[in-house]
Amino acid sequence: MQSRFAAWEILQEVARGAYSEVAIDRAFRKYDLSEMDKALATEIACGSIRQRKFLDCWIDSLAKTPALKQPPLLRWLFHIGLYQIFFMDRIPVSAVVNTSVELAKKKHLGRLASVVNAVLRKAIGFHEAGEKFTCAKDEMESFACNYSIPNWLARKLIAWKGEVTAGNLAKTFNCVPSIDLRVNRQRADLENVQKRLSNVGIKSTTIKNCPYGLHIVSGSGDLRKWPGYEQGEWSVQDRSAQWVAPLMKACPGELILDACAAPGGKATHLAELMTDIGEIWAVDYSSTRLQRTKSNSSRLGLKSLNFLQADSTALLEKMPHWKGCFDRILLDAPCSGLGTLARNPDLRWRMSLEKISTLITLQLNLLEGILPLLKSGGRVVYSTCTINPDENDNQISSFLSLHDELKLRDQAQIWPGSKEGGDGFYAAIIDSLQ
Ligand SMILES: C[S@@+](CC[C@H](N)C(=O)[O-])C[C@H]1O[C@@H](n2cnc3c(N)ncnc32)[C@H](O)[C@@H]1O
Repeated sequence: MQSRFAAWEILQEVARGAYSEVAIDRAFRKYDLSEMDKALATEIACGSIRQRKFLDCWIDSLAKTPALKQPPLLRWLFHIGLYQIFFMDRIPVSAVVNTSVELAKKKHLGRLASVVNAVLRKAIGFHEAGEKFTCAKDEMESFACNYSIPNWLARKLIAWKGEVTAGNLAKTFNCVPSIDLRVNRQRADLENVQKRLSNVGIKSTTIKNCPYGLHIVSGSGDLRKWPGYEQGEWSVQDRSAQWVAPLMKACPGELILDACAAPGGKATHLAELMTDIGEIWAVDYSSTRLQRTKSNSSRLGLKSLNFLQADSTALLEKMPHWKGCFDRILLDAPCSGLGTLARNPDLRWRMSLEKISTLITLQLNLLEGILPLLKSGGRVVYSTCTINPDENDNQISSFLSLHDELKLRDQAQIWPGSKEGGDGFYAAIIDSLQ
């Protein structure tokens, strides 16, 4: 009961604008839940947030009042009940109805308990009969409803990849993401970390083409309490994100700029690859996020990182002595994050075409802003965690069309759901010819 209550509260907070990660953290601080209950609450909350559109379609088909006209508290209660019915076979449907009705009674929805009971029972009947909802107006909307993504994203995905591949991609947005770690080679070796984790029942495997990565096969609870975290032996970092820093080919002793560095996943990776010898400047616009970069770096015991809060579109104005100084620059740009929709359940509902168009302009301004700081013969790596060509290869080709002095060495797009696993990521390696 407590876990469903926490899940319901998380949905309400996210609807009020909180990030799901923050809402989950807050709920777990407020309620004294066992590790098992936390896992259940997380599964129900994150799943219901991902499936928001799909579940709304069911409310539209089952209830007298459409989802968007329901009182929000009731809409989110329907969501957690319907999510369990449609996606969690292991929970007996009678338990779903009973707990949902009890929640309604406890939380000022007593009058509506019979509606909750009726809608959920009707849903069980439809689900058992294998029926589909019927609210979508056309094929595109039906695609969006079935995969629970906004209509604009359905339209874009189909335009980029065609309906079949778009469907496979959209499926990955609704999966529970894997957890990967990056072992800090300055502090530990892979086998030792694996052994220490296994001693407390956390199983892991190595990851192909990701030399210091470990994939967590089974393990639960607060990762920050797992052995080796406090000691700085590893960081949590998806395998696709671990692919980026090595593309810089940074050598010990070099001067490196990470222009959008917070919370420091790639900056700390760079320091580890450079055996912590050299000078890395981790710059970010957000001082709170930069603070997290500092504490990550100090937990990992790294000394080569320096920190600066600044706007990287105008970095030269703030740091004129940095002109033409950096051997290598990483621009891990702010982006739509469409490669990480499984990991960030609420992101698809926050993002929009208008926001993406603002991001595209910012990315170009950042590329132009860092360029004067690059040494002649230096290298820029531009990366994003999106699959949107306008933020990736199209962005880079229009940038390069303005700069004869630059050459594209290589670029690649990792799609979510590829056989290597991991988030969707893009990177371009750009070398200065002068
Ligand atoms: C994709 S995140 C970076 C992730 C980071 N590289 C890592 O691996 O942990 C993008 C970052 O860009 C920062 N940012 C956005 N606009 C910026 C600007 N104009 N100047 C500097 N940083 C900016 C955001 O605060 C955010 O931390």
